[in-house]
Amino acid sequence: MNYDKAIARFREIYRPTTREEVLREFARDDGTLGVYVHNPFCTTLCRFCYYKGVKFDPRRDSELYERYYGDYLPRVVAPFWPVIAAREVVSYFFGGGTPSLMRADTMRAVFRLFPDMAQAPSRTIEFHPAVWDERQLDVLAEFGFSCAIIGVQSFDQAVLARQNRPHVPVETVRALAAKLKERGIAVAVDLIYCMDPLDAGAIFAQDLHDLLSIDFDVVSLHHSYGDMRNDAHLEEFYGIIEDSSILEGYRWERAGSERYTGCHLPPREIKKCSRCVRLVAKTIDPDHYHTRLFPFINVMDEVSQSWRKPLEDRAVKSVLGFGSYRNPCKNTFSHIHRKDKVIEFIEVNNQWRPEYYVVYERHTREMFSRTAELLGRLNAVGEVPEGVKLHTLNKTRMTENDSIYRRPRLVVGLGLSWEGEDPRIHAFIDKIKHRFPNHREFVNGLQIGE
Ligand SMILES: C[S@@+](CC[C@H](N)C(=O)[O-])C[C@H]1O[C@@H](n2cnc3c(N)ncnc32)[C@H](O)[C@@H]1O
Ligand code: SF4
Repeated sequence: MNYDKAIARFREIYRPTTREEVLREFARDDGTLGVYVHNPFCTTLCRFCYYKGVKFDPRRDSELYERYYGDYLPRVVAPFWPVIAAREVVSYFFGGGTPSLMRADTMRAVFRLFPDMAQAPSRTIEFHPAVWDERQLDVLAEFGFSCAIIGVQSFDQAVLARQNRPHVPVETVRALAAKLKERGIAVAVDLIYCMDPLDAGAIFAQDLHDLLSIDFDVVSLHHSYGDMRNDAHLEEFYGIIEDSSILEGYRWERAGSERYTGCHLPPREIKKCSRCVRLVAKTIDPDHYHTRLFPFINVMDEVSQSWRKPLEDRAVKSVLGFGSYRNPCKNTFSHIHRKDKVIEFIEVNNQWRPEYYVVYERHTREMFSRTAELLGRLNAVGEVPEGVKLHTLNKTRMTENDSIYRRPRLVVGLGLSWEGEDPRIHAFIDKIKHRFPNHREFVNGLQIGE
């Protein structure tokens, strides 16, 4: 990819800003903070991947490696030390790309960029099962890492070969998990259903079966992001999970966790909107899970796609992201969720000089005034008859969702729902449909707004 073109496009669609503005916005924020550190390289580029790093050969690219970890990253982190010191940091997350490409000595130097890291309740890193060594595990133990996420994706050789990803036998993953657990580090595993459609169901069922021979604490079951709209696959995905014996020892992440996730819906009902479901060992206490292992679940992506409900105090509220290098697929982002506004920045590194852009800004007052305007128009239609329920629908909608050019946009709407066949209700709904020609219809429901 020609990254200069990407920069030109960023300048067109985003608002270029300065590090000073980012610092100022963080200075006005309070509450819990999550720190994200990006590791932008990958030894092979997996076809399915939404987070691909830049292709990297450790023998040939040592200059690039030293420049990124030894110079660029320290330079982008240092100005933010006062922000980090002033805030309650509840999570450090080292993601990628492939963070386990860092040598043990590099890991040590990178972790030391955050002098207060030991005080945070949660420290997590992503591990590629084919790219790691034991010295790294000792460094993780030295820095008190709470969790490592092993990106297994699948144990099936054929699908991994088709996806240009090295195969790692289940025994190797079992050994890696055991070594992490010996060091007091919880183990999370990533599996993907349907990286491609060939034998997708059989492969996923076998992967779940193989996984059970490993001592792990959490599994993230991803439904391949590009395949989410296939209803038959969605049914198959959930069907396989429910038919597998995994639910004997593991519970749905959201079960009993409403105060952390802000979601009261059972897994079956959220399935259409969540591309990953997580299962947690029944032996793990939900508080421990949400403070030590996965306090960042609601902020793993850029500004969330739906209106975020208030979260439990101990979960990550705002995110400060560091590090990027010509990210081919996904930008490194920071976002702030204050009462008065939500703002999202990206950090861009093309020529070793960080650039910052505002990709999204939403003022709470703007949302209220647009909702009030919509309510006024609704009111003008006439009195809402008994039996009709009204609720607000505020969403952040994306254009070009799976690319570095995501453009989040606030959508303010109202939802109406009703029961029964009362003619007064139907007359009212007909008037609404006429008055709001761009409405969307559902069974006993209607949505109006932009
Ligand atoms: C940054 S990536 C992987 C980290 C590490 N480089 C590795 O390969 O294990 C984080 C996770 O996102 C998930 N993922 C990436 N692209 C995906 C896609 N298109 N569909 C579903 N899951 C995806 C994978 O499970 C992956 O482990
Ligand atoms: S899955 Fe991991 S190794 Fe593969 S391209 Fe994505 S980030 Fe890189």
